[in-house]
Amino acid sequence: MHKIDQDKIVILDFGSQYTQLIARRIREIGVLSEIVSCEISPKELLKLNPRGIIFSGGPESVNSKFKPKFNSKILEINRPILGICYGMQLLANQHKGKVDLSAKREFGHSELAFNKNILFKGVNGKKTKIDVWMSHGDKVVKLPKQFKKIASSTNSKIAAFASNDKQRFGVQFHPEVSHTDQGQKILSNFALDICGCKKNWTSKNIIDDLVQNIKDQVGNKHVLLGISGGVDSSVVAALISKAIGKRLHCIFVDNGLLRKDESIQVNRDLKKGLGLKITTVNAEDIFLKKLKGKTDPEEKRKIIGRTFIDVFSKEAKKIKSIDFLAQGTIYPDYIESAGKKGGKAHVIKSHHNVGGLPEKLKFPLVEPLKFLFKDEVRKIGRNLGLPAYLIERHPFPGPGLGVRLLGAIDKSKLEILREADAIFMEELIKQKLYNKISQAYAAFLPVKSVGVVGDARRYEYVIALRAVVTLDFMTANVFPFKQEFLNHVSTRIMNEIDKVSRVVYDISSKPPATIEWE
Ligand code: XMP
Repeated sequence: MHKIDQDKIVILDFGSQYTQLIARRIREIGVLSEIVSCEISPKELLKLNPRGIIFSGGPESVNSKFKPKFNSKILEINRPILGICYGMQLLANQHKGKVDLSAKREFGHSELAFNKNILFKGVNGKKTKIDVWMSHGDKVVKLPKQFKKIASSTNSKIAAFASNDKQRFGVQFHPEVSHTDQGQKILSNFALDICGCKKNWTSKNIIDDLVQNIKDQVGNKHVLLGISGGVDSSVVAALISKAIGKRLHCIFVDNGLLRKDESIQVNRDLKKGLGLKITTVNAEDIFLKKLKGKTDPEEKRKIIGRTFIDVFSKEAKKIKSIDFLAQGTIYPDYIESAGKKGGKAHVIKSHHNVGGLPEKLKFPLVEPLKFLFKDEVRKIGRNLGLPAYLIERHPFPGPGLGVRLLGAIDKSKLEILREADAIFMEELIKQKLYNKISQAYAAFLPVKSVGVVGDARRYEYVIALRAVVTLDFMTANVFPFKQEFLNHVSTRIMNEIDKVSRVVYDISSKPPATIEWE
């Protein structure tokens, strides 16, 4: 990062489930934010050149021997610091205040009464109270010297504090969650007014910066990219092609497990629309042959993954000039793998569509999206001129319909599933429901059920519809359709597809169910 790197807030992660949310909120203000482990050294932190620092919340107590490691020399860095929840308690503890176990745990909604302070500037007009969201067992019971209380809540006399030199701030509540009234304004006061950041984090600047980075990294060499038809790989393609034009070579593997018209869309919108150089490999027969008779979900996943790598590598070898492999890794995946390498462990489940490819191909990687959240990827995708349907697409798993067609896979069942899924999607879009749902699809159940059409008995398959809303795909709620909508989709599927005699709606939340059926 070049220009936009100059105005940055660095967030030290003490293990809060909301750390990524803090980062997203700061970026929504228009300021770059970066998450690092709380174990970072002062030297490394200074190298990142932050204008301000945020200490996240975390599950431990500052009085516990299991508390996360933290180098207290960081407090000598001459930059404003905002501590949130555990972060506030850490500031209190380090500056010789006192933190104790609270008699009452404060969890959920609370009312905050605040004093006049730069942190609360412009919050709630002339009123001095807001609703906030709390989640803490410990609380600050004695202020450090040179600090003053700037807010209190029902159960915390000191619910926010500030140092007299306006360099240290702490809030016991979570300004990053949407349940806190005007939390964004509080974060914006910190980032813009206290730290003096400029709003440089805009789609245009991000694109300019990423394109320049790609040019610097790739020079006059060539890049290979696997296109899946999803948001991330399409945005990567658009970016790299903007940077190096025809030296980007894309391979699109049609594994026979794609949704209806997927191949047509890729060729229409990416090949023709964006002028990308795309080789489409029709590998349906290879995949279906390998999957023949296989019913175990994990075995199916592995076969699909391995076959993809084989087919892709074989095709890649035909292109002589490749020097780099591009990947659509985004920030949450990147943080997770950094976490595994030694930072705080984030237990975030992620699936990688093309896992194993970099090891097999051994090219250096180009990963232009690795500092972006999904909503930012979508925003720059729009800016790069990708079609709206592609940008707003629900995630589609790497193994595709392979994990949505339960049991053994064959071409005729895939055809039934594809048609049912297409009807469901068409209706979701028509009734303007698609963008209210995080992920929706049809699954094929390998059981037969009796139905009747006219006077004739029909003994055919069952289609299950699934639609969930979720923020992070770790937990998910079922989308509450109106009954008429489900009736309509079900009638269409049974009328239009002979081989379906019954449609069911999956009403399982995650957990305990997963989003995919297999
Ligand atoms: P589950 O079913 O685990 O899904 O609740 C969570 C999210 O991950 C997607 N998913 C996959 N993505 N390869 C992928 O690329 C996979 O093997 C895979 N399995 C699940 C799923 O679609 C949902 O978005």
